Amino acid sequence: MDQHAARILPSILDTIGRTPLVALDRLTRGLPGRIVLKLEYFNPGFSIKDRIALRIIEEAERSGRLKPGGTVIELTSGNTGTGLAVVCAVKGYHLIAVMSEGNSVERRRMLRALGAEVELVPQAPGGQPGQVSKEDLELVERRTRELQEQLGAFRADQFNNPSNVEAHELTTGPEIWEQTGGQVQVFVALVGTAGTFMGVARALKKRRPEIRTYAVEPATAAVLAGKPVTDTRHKLQGGGYAMIPPLWDPRYCDGYIAVSDDEAIAVARRLAREEGIFAGFSTGANVAAALRLAREAEPGTLIATTANDTGLKYLSTDLFP
Ligand SMILES: Cc1ncc(COP(=O)(O)O)c(C=O)c1O
Repeated sequence: MDQHAARILPSILDTIGRTPLVALDRLTRGLPGRIVLKLEYFNPGFSIKDRIALRIIEEAERSGRLKPGGTVIELTSGNTGTGLAVVCAVKGYHLIAVMSEGNSVERRRMLRALGAEVELVPQAPGGQPGQVSKEDLELVERRTRELQEQLGAFRADQFNNPSNVEAHELTTGPEIWEQTGGQVQVFVALVGTAGTFMGVARALKKRRPEIRTYAVEPATAAVLAGKPVTDTRHKLQGGGYAMIPPLWDPRYCDGYIAVSDDEAIAVARRLAREEGIFAGFSTGANVAAALRLAREAEPGTLIATTANDTGLKYLSTDLFP
């Protein structure tokens, strides 16, 4: 953050990344393990996805797939769309964000405020607002493909684009390594596209192969762990899509932790009250998983995870009633 404060920055894009890493020493009082949380809501779009948005657009510019004034399209639960909207606003691209009606209303308003066009896709039969299922995502995918073909737009394609993993391998992971002085021993993260998990796991294991990594999944859809799916609906927006994401590579994963909605919510509320950290459902899931590891850890074990976005994105949900 000091680099940011010390000079005039050319644009908001220069504030992406280099987020603070904060110890949760109040939450872990009396536990053998120590947790550090990387506060990704310090990014200008208030989520971890700004990092991949910047890398995806700049790679597309470099490769010539995106021309000046061009149109960008993306399937998004909101955070990637917001990140892309920030980048497209500064660089002068038109963004179409295709999202499910199940995602929270704050997300779509923010996208529109940043100049994006929002294409809302109705939920599958039986879908519940605030719970985006695998079936909902399939409908959004279909609509994104239709529009991309019609318009000849550049699709950011976060589920398949290697720039997603690279963004975290080149920034998030190395930052965690440097901010912990190379002392980090465990990394834990909810898997959505798997970009965060894979990129950080690669960066850390390259520096020290003994670092252990744990993937977080919804309790009812722990497919990476090989468990049967009992319900594809859950509240961990941005992750847990009940499928193996294309960017996933199990060789970088040492274990799996399943977290229920209730546990994620309880921990997100504790984070706010006991640490003054106001974050979303997926952050609650990440810290819930980290707390489980901290309880069973060798004394002094340093566990890192991410606060993916701000609680402000969920004011219309039951997270903070
Ligand atoms: C709030 C939130 N949490 C977690 C994730 C999961 O990150 P990834 O897609 O890198 O696996 C995302 C991704 O969209 C997210 O928006």
